[in-house]
Amino acid sequence: MAISKVGVLGCGLMGSGIAQVCAQSGHSTLVLEVDQKLLDKGLGNIDKFLRGGVERGKLTAADRDRTMGNLRGTTRLEDLADRDLIIEAVVENLGAKREVFGKLDTLCPAATIFSSNTSSLSITELAASTKRPSRFVGLHFFNPVPLMKLVEVADTILTDRKVFDEALAFVGTLGKTAIRTRDKTGFIVNRLLVPYILDAVRALEEGVGAIKDIDEAMKLGCGYPMGPLTLLDLVGLDTTEHIANVFFEEFRERRFACPALLRRMVLAGFHGRKTGKGFYDYSGATPVPNDFLVGGA
Ligand code: CAA
Repeated sequence: MAISKVGVLGCGLMGSGIAQVCAQSGHSTLVLEVDQKLLDKGLGNIDKFLRGGVERGKLTAADRDRTMGNLRGTTRLEDLADRDLIIEAVVENLGAKREVFGKLDTLCPAATIFSSNTSSLSITELAASTKRPSRFVGLHFFNPVPLMKLVEVADTILTDRKVFDEALAFVGTLGKTAIRTRDKTGFIVNRLLVPYILDAVRALEEGVGAIKDIDEAMKLGCGYPMGPLTLLDLVGLDTTEHIANVFFEEFRERRFACPALLRRMVLAGFHGRKTGKGFYDYSGATPVPNDFLVGGA
């Protein structure tokens, strides 16, 4: 079965990026949000990104119009009944994901493939809660979705081989590179990335270096595109705390434990770029490190 009609659940940071790349690759794309305000915000972000691409000479105005023409938004779950593939990118909460998949299970034909962009929850648990566990895979995209070239495709012990191959082929149609991974918490990227960024927070807590120095160290010493604390601000401190908690629950290892500073920053509303403050303050023209976070009284 060739996948041509895609349904994306959620039009937030990840969902809007996923919907954009699907529409940009010529797939008829329908994206769902819980209300019109959030939907307009998400679609507005896509439009802004595409306009930025035109300004940078990365795509033509005709490409942008074609992409927007392939993209529609809805707040009605029933509208997704004709989709070949569902990609879920709603809030990282097992109950919320199970609820939406439960409803779609009765709306979509048996052939529709279900997938989740979860970065920490179990694909097996989600798949097993539906009536189509063999037609369920993990499709894990990276932030910012339109620029990051990788998608992790995760199977479970319940996944049909043909469905897995169709998912791999679909990722190819998006112009992304698919890697195969099994449904183990964190897959490959986050299993390696999460302990690294949590350790950067611990290094800051322990006074090994200041915010800017830790970031410069990994950028210039290892050639990483951005430092770990800048990356944390991009991913979101609240999201990272949640992922750390799920990983720690699974592995019970210190390297996955959420550092005290990160927890307190989340409690204080320092969620990263999305709230305008995290390890850096984003209110001015250029980000300024919040050195007071570890300063003395
Ligand atoms: N449309 C089209 N292209 C655009 C664009 C737009 N609106 N905006 C930027 N670009 C292009 C630029 O033109 C540039 O292209 P070239 O390389 O051809 O010149 C490229 O994108 C990079 O853009 P910038 O020069 O503006 O920015 P940058 O060089 O600072 O790179 C970045 C930005 C790609 C985000 C880079 O810093 C990076 O790769 N950071 C690491 C991100 C990362 O690690 N993400 C994973 C997070 S973990 C995750 O997501 C998983 C999870 O589960 C938590």
